[in-house]
Amino acid sequence: LKRLTVPAIRKRKGGEPLVMLTAYTVRTAQLLDPHCDMLLVGDSLGQVVYGLPSTVPVTLEMMAAHGAAVVRGSYHALVVIDMPFGSYEASPEKAFESAAFLLKATGAAAVKLEGGEAMAPTVRFLSERGVPVMGHVGLTPQAVNALGGYGARGRSEAEAAKIVADASAVAAAGAFAVVIEGVVEPIAVAITESVACPTIGIGASARCDGQVLVAEDMLGLFERVPRFVKRFDDLAGRVGDAAARYAAEVRARQFPGPDQVYAPKD
Ligand code: KIV
Ligand code: NA
Repeated sequence: LKRLTVPAIRKRKGGEPLVMLTAYTVRTAQLLDPHCDMLLVGDSLGQVVYGLPSTVPVTLEMMAAHGAAVVRGSYHALVVIDMPFGSYEASPEKAFESAAFLLKATGAAAVKLEGGEAMAPTVRFLSERGVPVMGHVGLTPQAVNALGGYGARGRSEAEAAKIVADASAVAAAGAFAVVIEGVVEPIAVAITESVACPTIGIGASARCDGQVLVAEDMLGLFERVPRFVKRFDDLAGRVGDAAARYAAEVRARQFPGPDQVYAPKD
């Protein structure tokens, strides 16, 4: 089985929806890989893995360590790795250095960066130098300090027009796909119908060319989740139940039982 490539993902525009989930660890990657076209090493790991208040403090080193684990744990999906805040905004050259570091350190095939018109020259600079770029517009969590929160975007006409312009700019600059996060549905549909590359929705629309969610969110492992998350399981409840049964058996000296202890050799 060969790993999906960037051109193969691009060709899926308007076709069978692209399936993408986040993965931060080798075991999660192994479990999700057979079901996904793309795995995203998201900087959401700042909150999900490290308990940070936002994605702003996430570093290149954190992304590299988790990205390498996800590549080792997968062989089918295309692995995309987030450029963390501060690693790409200052200039296309700085972005290229950061992207090259991530691709070399992890074996991932593509990077994702947040932003629209202002980032278009950077998207072009990277794309023309062998670094496939996935864009990310609408609700861009690294801009939380500027946006003031994680509410849906595009409710006013001006904001809607800006998001459409952002998506068009990164797509025209060569992005091989673009994530549309947390926008009112008609905007997601309009962008999907107007850009040449696949759109990946999260809190957007089923009419996008694909969907992405944070795996921990859809598994019911993470406490506070946005309204756009559907919980496909309640792993938090199941982990809690298992820990409670373990604790009860330890306290009752029922664990370890005969099957879990070693008998001396006779
Ligand atoms: O970091 C992340 O998990 C993301 C997706 C939710 C799009 O950027
Ligand atoms: Na992200």
